[in-house]
Amino acid sequence: MTGLSDSFQRPINYLRISVTDRCNLRCIYCMPADGVDLRSHSDILSYEEIYTIARAAAELGINKIRITGGEPLIRLGLPQLIRMLASIEAIEDIALTTNGVLLADYAGELKQAGLKRVNISLDTLNPDRFKRITRGESELKQVFEGIEVASRVGLEPVKLNMVVMSGINDDELLDFAAKTIDEEWHVRFIELMPVAGNGDNAPRFISATEMRKRLEPLGELEPCLPGVGNGPAKYFRLAKAKGTIGFITPVSEHFCFNCNRMRLTADGKLRPCLLSEYEIDLKQPLRDGVSKAGLKKLFKQAVAEKPLQHGLAEGQVPNGRPFSHVGG
Ligand code: 5AD
Ligand code: SF4
Repeated sequence: MTGLSDSFQRPINYLRISVTDRCNLRCIYCMPADGVDLRSHSDILSYEEIYTIARAAAELGINKIRITGGEPLIRLGLPQLIRMLASIEAIEDIALTTNGVLLADYAGELKQAGLKRVNISLDTLNPDRFKRITRGESELKQVFEGIEVASRVGLEPVKLNMVVMSGINDDELLDFAAKTIDEEWHVRFIELMPVAGNGDNAPRFISATEMRKRLEPLGELEPCLPGVGNGPAKYFRLAKAKGTIGFITPVSEHFCFNCNRMRLTADGKLRPCLLSEYEIDLKQPLRDGVSKAGLKKLFKQAVAEKPLQHGLAEGQVPNGRPFSHVGG
């Protein structure tokens, strides 16, 4: 058999690459108020190094890549990396997760470079609330522009990720869902995950079951298939709606049994699971001149260590690196 699979026979074909641990926002669900430790520039993989890893991974069976951060668009010259990755024949799909603030400026160039589509974080439709949730100086207006330009240049389908938090933005569930009726919005409601250093997250948790209950006034949710991708969301459509509504349930119903992904951190660690501390360093071996065969061996070793599942539902909280290091 060709392709890569882990020790539980899960096929692994998807690599998430974090290109920076820095971010121009500090979302309350992601970062502690005083920020997180940042890696110095020399600790961060160069585009050439990322490309070398991606080529080795592609030879093993990786055919989908997602670029994450921190906020990937604050790293200079990102379209150049996209171009390099798109030149790898086996890579069929390259997507980007972004907070959208800088997207209007780069969407055209990214599309030309070979990016296929974007997921944009959008937790509120209210400008003042946006400032509160992101604790930053950026404006919600910039994100809306980003969404518009991304659709216009064909980075589609544009998916919008909303982390639903009780007492913070849960009163907007209906507004977000209603938006999918007239506009081709693909909204995904995400259960809040506990994150290291963010102890106050727990009381804000709302399960997807509760979210669905709150959407009942809008009528029946018809199950539908995702337009693109085979990620963990379950999709639905309101009657006659142009867009879709997805639920991502990392806490209430883990999707580990379908997990097809590996993660590469900005500082060059290969991580088989977002929620487990285990990682294998690729940066030092690369800088010591490891061969492609050696790199592939390390990659396979990390895949073999992929755990069966996480323990969020049992209250186990990973206490290691913040999501902005690992790529959300
Ligand atoms: N819970 C759920 N999702 C999170 N993300 C970041 N932190 C959390 C968390 N604590 C996801 C969000 C965000 C993306 C970058 O990572 O979807 O949009
Ligand atoms: Fe930045 Fe995304 Fe974390 Fe918000 S969730 S602080 S945009 S990395």
